[in-house]
Amino acid sequence: MTHTTSHINEPFNLGVLFLPNRLVQAPMAGISGRAFRLQARRFGAGLLTTEMISSHGVCYRNQRTRSMLALTEGEHPVAVQLFGAQPEAMAEAARLAEASGADIIDINMGCPVRKVVKTGAGVALMADEALAVRIAAAVVNAVRAPVTVKLRSGAGRAVTALSLAGKLQTAGVAALCIHPRLGGQGYKGRADHAISAALAAAASVPVIASGDIDGPQAAEALLAEGCAAVMIGRASQGNPWIYRDLLDGVAPWRRPIDEVLAELERFYRDLVEETGRERALRQMRKFYGWYLKPFKPDAELRDGLKRADGFEEASALIGRSIAT
Ligand SMILES: Cc1cc2nc3c(=O)[nH]c(=O)nc-3n(C[C@H](O)[C@H](O)[C@H](O)COP(=O)(O)O)c2cc1C
Repeated sequence: MTHTTSHINEPFNLGVLFLPNRLVQAPMAGISGRAFRLQARRFGAGLLTTEMISSHGVCYRNQRTRSMLALTEGEHPVAVQLFGAQPEAMAEAARLAEASGADIIDINMGCPVRKVVKTGAGVALMADEALAVRIAAAVVNAVRAPVTVKLRSGAGRAVTALSLAGKLQTAGVAALCIHPRLGGQGYKGRADHAISAALAAAASVPVIASGDIDGPQAAEALLAEGCAAVMIGRASQGNPWIYRDLLDGVAPWRRPIDEVLAELERFYRDLVEETGRERALRQMRKFYGWYLKPFKPDAELRDGLKRADGFEEASALIGRSIAT
């Protein structure tokens, strides 16, 4: 095997911000809350990102939305991602996010979910470039923090990310993130990272690539092609160790069940602190599934975990069912 230099560990500057390495934790609605972000940081993610937050919810003082802006000390540097279709509301939400401690304001121009697109936000903005640019400019003017935009390849059938990116740069964005699938594609097919490479070659700001990055090869290939950083999403669901493995340059490997249980407990405690016990218990069901998948849990365990009333009970069920 030829020896290649690892770029993942290299620091870089995103606007005025210093980032210690090339790993960015992906925004994931319903998942990347505080406990998830802190976990990604513990394992080495250089930049954290909140899930997408509604600019309207922020402006209209929706309590639950506002609580999503709360950031804690261990999270910096952290990007707050906002979505919306009105420049003024986005600018106001960005000001409030910055006041809550956001180190970066990220604008969502990639979400294909109907509820978001029908309001003109998310990936719908890629079909209305004039509005997309007005929003980016309004946010850039509203805050001192670097402003980034997360794009898909395009809203319809055409790849428009490159032409829009040029206009967003002119509006003053400090970096671009691309998840190179078309809006209508959802998560089908493979991310087309030839588009990420083309964007990195054309852009004068750092480009972060997102999509199907699940090991050092995929990550290093994108960095070698000129992307400044890579974003890790689904590959970290149930495997936060992936950040450490990427930094160490090794392929992700399965941790023993004892280590998995210890990490689940730590995560659960942070989740309870963040959301309260009831919501944490509901959320944990999703996480048990992800963490235990490599151990092939049987139907009895899966069923038991749905009913478990507390982490201790869940942990005992797992311990009994899965041999160490
Ligand atoms: C459950 C889920 C929720 C997501 N929520 C967001 C979001 O709030 N904002 C966003 O920009 N992207 C969101 N994404 C997209 C991811 O950030 C990422 O770009 C995409 O999943 C591809 O990367 P991956 O293959 O590493 O998961 C979400 C993805 C998933 C699977």
